[in-house]
Amino acid sequence: MSLEIVAREGLVLLGCGKMGSALLAGWLKAGIAPGAFWVIEPNPTDWLKATGVHLNEGVPKAPGVALLAVKPQMMGAALPALQALGNGPTLFVSIAAGTTIAAFEAALGAKTPIVRTMPNTPAMVGRGITAICGNSHATPAHLALARDLMAAVGQVVELEGEHQIDAVTGVSGSGAAYVFHLIEAMAAAGVAEGLPADVAMQLARATVCGAGEMAFRSPDSAAQLRVNVTSPGGTTAAALAVLMDETQGFPRLLARAVKAAADRGRELGK
Ligand SMILES: NC(=O)c1ccc[n+]([C@@H]2O[C@H](COP(=O)([O-])OP(=O)(O)OC[C@H]3O[C@@H](n4cnc5c(N)ncnc54)[C@H](OP(=O)(O)O)[C@@H]3O)[C@@H](O)[C@H]2O)c1
Repeated sequence: MSLEIVAREGLVLLGCGKMGSALLAGWLKAGIAPGAFWVIEPNPTDWLKATGVHLNEGVPKAPGVALLAVKPQMMGAALPALQALGNGPTLFVSIAAGTTIAAFEAALGAKTPIVRTMPNTPAMVGRGITAICGNSHATPAHLALARDLMAAVGQVVELEGEHQIDAVTGVSGSGAAYVFHLIEAMAAAGVAEGLPADVAMQLARATVCGAGEMAFRSPDSAAQLRVNVTSPGGTTAAALAVLMDETQGFPRLLARAVKAAADRGRELGK
């Protein structure tokens, strides 16, 4: 398996905040020895200090992977620490939203193998989904390695190219927040129908989580799962007539929301 490269040649993790910690926890759980990791993090948590990784000890000469997990606005300041690894055998994997492959090539050298990824927040509970795409120097073996690394926190899909990454941001990258807002809106609607706020919130939250778990486990399509719980002329059908309305329902509304996120991603990438 490609993760053996990490065990053999080492991985540098630049930035170990929420996302970096979730990934590192996944790799350690997968059985890679802590000594394979060189972590650069200005404010290490107690958990990180106790892992036994090389913490702020510099970087090895030619690690197999350098994974960039700092905020996009910190990238410019953080990259010089790894510049010496560019144009060489080290695979760079970025999880930063908005920083383009061209920007990495400019900073690290055009011959650097780079895989840009877009994970999402459910990675914190091992249920994320990450889309990946590589530059022209990223080989199928590099992409397989990036896939295995990101699989530590959930599912992975491969894109045709970087041109699709803003659409991914719109659907899954930013998408968990849409679902959190769905919970808020459902709870508020329950209060308007006469429920106490705490009960309405508990009902909304458990419903979204339960439906999400069914969608995760079932081989059926989302449309089929919906049909399965909708009796003709019943209460669910009455609500769905509102939500599925072509002009005022979810389809148009979500298309606008996803487009707004994708457009913002394109802007940030400029
Ligand atoms: N969270 C998500 O759901 C999500 C989804 C998709 C993509 N991403 C991407 O994942 C990346 C990390 O996000 P996050 O939520 O994990 O952010 P975060 O919790 O703020 O983690 C970033 C870490 O990098 C550290 N750092 C700052 N400057 C550094 C430097 N020069 N060298 C090394 N480390 C440095 C930060 O330390 P300080 O705290 O001291 O600044 C922080 O601990 C971002 O680029 C984001 O776009 C996140």
